[in-house]
Parts: sequence; structure tokens; C-alpha cells
Amino acid sequence: MTLSQLLLLLLLLVLCLASVALGISNPFRRANDQNGRCTYTFTVPSQSEESCPDPGQTMSALRALQKEHATYRLELNSVQSRLSHLENLKSQLDRIRAPAAAVPAVPAMGELQREVEILRREKAQQQRAAHRLEETLSNLQREKAALEEEKRRLQQANSALVQTQESRQREMAELRQKQCPQVSEASVQDARLEPRQASRWEADSMVYQELKSEQTGIPTARHIQGIPSFLNSSSSREAATTGCGELVWVGDPMTFRKAENIAGKYGVWMRDPEPVLPYTHETIWRINAVGNDIRQVFEYDNLDDFRKGYPSKVHVLPQPIESTGAVIFKGFLYFQKRKSRILAKYNLVMENLTLQKELPNAGYHGQFPYSWGGYTDIDLAIDETGLWAVYSTDETRGLIVLSKLDPDTLEVQQTWETAIRKQSVANSFMICGTLYTVSSYSAPDTVVNFAYDTSTRKSRELGVAFKNRYRYNSMIDYNPTMKKIFAWDNFNMVMYDVQLSTMSEARGET
Ligand SMILES: *[C@@H]1O[C@H](CO)[C@@H](O)[C@H](O)[C@H]1NC(C)=O
Ligand SMILES: *[C@@H]1O[C@H](CO)[C@@H](O)[C@H](O)[C@H]1NC(C)=O
Repeated sequence: MTLSQLLLLLLLLVLCLASVALGISNPFRRANDQNGRCTYTFTVPSQSEESCPDPGQTMSALRALQKEHATYRLELNSVQSRLSHLENLKSQLDRIRAPAAAVPAVPAMGELQREVEILRREKAQQQRAAHRLEETLSNLQREKAALEEEKRRLQQANSALVQTQESRQREMAELRQKQCPQVSEASVQDARLEPRQASRWEADSMVYQELKSEQTGIPTARHIQGIPSFLNSSSSREAATTGCGELVWVGDPMTFRKAENIAGKYGVWMRDPEPVLPYTHETIWRINAVGNDIRQVFEYDNLDDFRKGYPSKVHVLPQPIESTGAVIFKGFLYFQKRKSRILAKYNLVMENLTLQKELPNAGYHGQFPYSWGGYTDIDLAIDETGLWAVYSTDETRGLIVLSKLDPDTLEVQQTWETAIRKQSVANSFMICGTLYTVSSYSAPDTVVNFAYDTSTRKSRELGVAFKNRYRYNSMIDYNPTMKKIFAWDNFNMVMYDVQLSTMSEARGET
């Protein structure tokens, strides 16, 4: 072996060690150059390859968006057909109404007393019928207004979705240009959404999904039937532990009631965690949240009346409510006033508005809603520690901002900025000073995906299973006294059991 060969070997050895240290796999290529000399070349990953996002992740995000898009289309179609059905009914009623209202005049002087009597009875009957007709008509008009509002909202949500989709597609196109591995032309094509063409295919696959969920959604004895014993308020308070902890488990939803019409497609229902007389732990509150003038708050004395649909009172608020962020706490309803960042406090006992206060810098009316839309820009919450507002601001550009509020004055006491994008999550709730977010409002099997702890100012990823049984969850709130989650899922008022880790476990005894 010549000296030069020895040197070459040494060089190779050094390169080999260096490549192992740098984590380069299969580093050398051997070739003979024109002079018959042996040359060795090696490669390191380029900067651009390293910056390639994970194409698998982008694809699955796109697929999820497509599914959501299909859901919106189906919703829109059903709202559309309900609307035209209502239009039909209304014009039929209008035709009936015209002659009914124009009751023939009773002849001033009857020929015979009996004929006059018959005519009088007929007239009274006709008037009653006309009255019933008027009532039906005004109900129809209310439903129609609610449907039109829902249609507007769906269209808005849909166009926001299309925008997100377009930016994901641009991302995919960039991936392709960078020649990142594993992204074939076909897969990009596949993920591209042609709104018209795609919708039929998606509608088909939705039908399949519906069938599948019907198969898997066989009700268990635990939900629907009977009144769970924990709702018996005496036993519920005994069962409720007073301790705090981290959320470790959420049970299957139990269904308590289904809304009668479109006004209840989404809404708010809850119990006051700290009721004041004459209200009790039995009292249930309900607000149907579809429509542009939401003012009615239904009050039920107990679960039985709630299930039967017998409210003991209907409060009519002096100001309309925006969406599903309202809470009830110590005899007051706290809510966001429609089309404003003003928070209002309504005294349920006195039945008057006690206080109104701006939530500084909060986005509202579609600026930073949850992923399902519904003007859910400002979401109030109650936990063991008091009253909270979950929202976002221009400054944080859509990241969730969390403020602790003084329930007496509605002043902000302290504020936290999280790194969680509000529009990327379906909803949130507070437990023991920690904010929890839910990943999807429509996936039947989703997760509580983040926990932001206000005491450490840190968020962590979470994978606690959460079920959207009816696939359109519009309100999720925790009741710290009952230790239950109340939710409104596609016309259905449901409740979830939760389990918290004990404090010692939360601190980590290991
Ligand atoms: C509710 O509690 C009462 C008294 O504690 C008890 O008698 C009743 O059986 C309970 N009802 C249910 C449905 O558990
Ligand atoms: C609410 O009504 C009560 C009783 O009528 C009254 O005493 C109170 O001043 C009212 N509060 C406001 C803020 O109007």
C-alpha cells in the first residue's frame, strides 16, 4: 500500500466518522473519473428539504376541511329545502286566509230569527279559525326568519372554510414545487376541491358515514332513558367532590331534551352552580340561540318540567344576546350583547339589566369565532374560581385570550394570552383555572386537545376523548358544582360526566 493510498484511507475514515456524527445516512457515492481515478462524493440534506412541512399532515388537514365543507353543503341544502317548504305553506295559508278574514256580513235584518242565529254561529266559528290561522302564520314567519339567519351564517362559515382550503392548497402546491418527497401529482389532485363536482362525491361519502354512525351509535342504557340519579339534586351535591384537579376523562353524552324547531339548532342550557332564592339547584335555564333577535330565556323549575317542555317563566331580555357564550351565575345571566363587545349582567330575580361593560379589545360578530362559527367570538365560562371570558383580539391575531372578570363589576382582573388559535378549536371550557379546548364540533369521536393552565401560563397537548354524538356541538360549558359538562349538540341538550385527577396526582407523586 502506497503512502497516498494510506492517506486516502485515513481521509475516508475521518469522513465516515464525521458523517455518523452529523447523522447523514448512506453518505458516499463511489465513481471513476475520466482519468480512471476513484472519486468519492457525499451529500448533506439541503436547507429547503429540511423546511418541507409534513405532507401527510397537510393532506389530512385538507381531508378534514373537505369533510367539513361537505357538512356545510348538506346543512345548507336542508335549510334551503325547509325554507321553500315554509314558503309553500305560507302562500297556501295566505290563500285560505283571504276569504276567511272577509267574513260575509250578517244581513242587517234577518228574514227569520233562526237563519240569523245560524249565521252568527258560523261567523264566530270563522273568526276562531281565522285567529288560529294568524297564529300559525306568525309562527311560520318566526321560523322562516330563524332559518334565513341560519342560512346566512352557514354561507359565511362556508366561505371562510373555502378560504382556509385555498391556503392549504397553496401550501400543497408549494410542497410540490419544492419537490418534497412523497407528494405525488395525483395526491395533490385528489385533495383539490372543485366545489361543484366534489359535492356529489362528498354527499355520497357522507351518506356512507351517516350509515356507519348509525351502526355504531346504538344507544346504551346510560343515555336517553330515565333520569340519572345524579340529577336528583340532593344526591348530585353529595356526589360532587369539592377538590380541584386536571381533566382526565369525559364520559359519553347523556341526552335530556331535543329542541322542537330550527330556533333550537344551537343554544345554551345550564344550571346555576350557585343559585340564589327563589332559584335552586333544580332550576334549569335554556336559550335557543338561532336568529338575529335572541331575547328569550326559558326558566324551568326542575328537570321533569324541562323534559316535558313546561317553562315556569319566559324572561324577555331588554337587549338581544349574541350566540351561545352566555352563563348563569349566582342568580344573574351574563351575556354578550349582539353585535358588540359589551358584556351585560341581567338580574334573573329582579328581571332587569344590572350592568353593561365593554370587554376591552375583544373581537366580536364573526371576527374570532370558534371553528363552527355562530358569532362565538366571546365565550363566557364559570369554574371553581369564578367568571371568565374566552375571546381574541386584533393584537393577538386570533390566538385565544383569557380574562378573569369580577362578577360584580365585569372589570377585567387579569389577562392571559395563549398560543391556541381560537378558530382552530370547536369550543372551550374552564375547570379549576385551566382552559380546555375541544378539537372538533362535528367529528363523532374527537378529543379535548389542549389545556392552558393559568397558574403556570403554559399550555400542553391533551388527548382526552370527547364525543359529539349529534355532530354539531355549539355550546360546551362546565358546571363546577355538579362537576358536569353541559352541551348543546345539534338540537340536543346533553350532559357529560367528567373525572378530575386528585390534587396529589395532578402534582405528580411519582
Ligand atoms: C332522589 O332522591 C330522593 C331522596 O334522596 C330519593 O328518594 C329518590 O329515589 C331519588 N331519585 C332518583 C331518581 O334517584
Ligand atoms: C331592578 O329592579 C328593582 C326592583 O324593581 C329595582 O330596585 C332596581 O333598582 C332595578 N335595578 C336597575 C339597575 O334598574
